[in-house]
Amino acid sequence: MTGDLIPGAAGAAPAPSPVDADLVVSLDGVAVRRSGTALLHDVDWRVELDERWVVLGPNGAGKTTLLNIASGRLHPTTGTAHVLGERIGRTDVMELRTRIGLSTAALAERLPAQERVVDVVMTAAWSVVGRWRESYDPADEARARALLDQLGVSGLAERAYGTLSEGERKRTQIARALMTDPELLLLDEPAAGLDLGGREDLVGRLADLAHDPDAPALVLVTHHVEEIPPGFTHALLLRDGAVMAQGLLDDTLTADNLTKTFGLPLLVERNGDRYTARAA
Ligand SMILES: Nc1ncnc2c1ncn2[C@@H]1O[C@H](COP(=O)(O)OP(=O)(O)OP(=O)(O)O)[C@@H](O)[C@H]1O
Ligand SMILES: [Mg+2]
Repeated sequence: MTGDLIPGAAGAAPAPSPVDADLVVSLDGVAVRRSGTALLHDVDWRVELDERWVVLGPNGAGKTTLLNIASGRLHPTTGTAHVLGERIGRTDVMELRTRIGLSTAALAERLPAQERVVDVVMTAAWSVVGRWRESYDPADEARARALLDQLGVSGLAERAYGTLSEGERKRTQIARALMTDPELLLLDEPAAGLDLGGREDLVGRLADLAHDPDAPALVLVTHHVEEIPPGFTHALLLRDGAVMAQGLLDDTLTADNLTKTFGLPLLVERNGDRYTARAA
């Protein structure tokens, strides 16, 4: 997890919502600084309800930091961040968190290995990891099982999470992120560590989600244009904490923009609804 985390129950009273109701994320002049370095700077970004964004950039570009802001887990050092109409830093973060699905490596590390897969998904209803004394309705369990089914891993519901393969874990994590029926779903490198078949399967499932009009607004972080699922609409390219380009996917994923972002001459090709990139 990047930077200082916001404690669970921020005492501040919810502020009135000054932003457009269709805006899911709205960042204005956002910077995050730690020990004299800017992890992000001058970030202006708007995500609307029906948009599906991919965030691309090299290691250390600030992608996870951006997701930590968008999930209410990190305050900007300067600038303002509104998420689902609430201003980060002036709202009850716990309330906001149940409205946001998040899947990151840092959260995945906290999932207990001995926990049943269905419980790993279900405990998201209480924003906890590990079943303890919370009470769940049969409807909660039915929803968790339906989500595992949607991600193609319903057969693993009774298994201990720690026994799953990397790809099976990734799918379980996405099911977990969807448990609260979030209005915003943030996925940090969901295809990392998957083999080709696993990646293609995941890309297909994310494409289904992207095409579903009832799905939440989606933000997907990746290093690879090959992992952009069909149905994604927008891209934001980050390098050294700065936005190199952003906008509609086709307009943004140009050879010039990718070259600037990754710092080496790149060619990008679109094949149908998928992209590939290679050194020029
Ligand atoms: N608390 C901190 N103090 C100082 N530097 C930090 C802190 N947290 C993160 N960083 C640095 O900020 C930069 C951006 O980190 P971030 O995790 O957002 O990158 P990223 O784009 O997600 O990279 P990756 O693709 O490797 O996951 C990195 O160089 C990281 O080392
Ligand atoms: Mg990261």
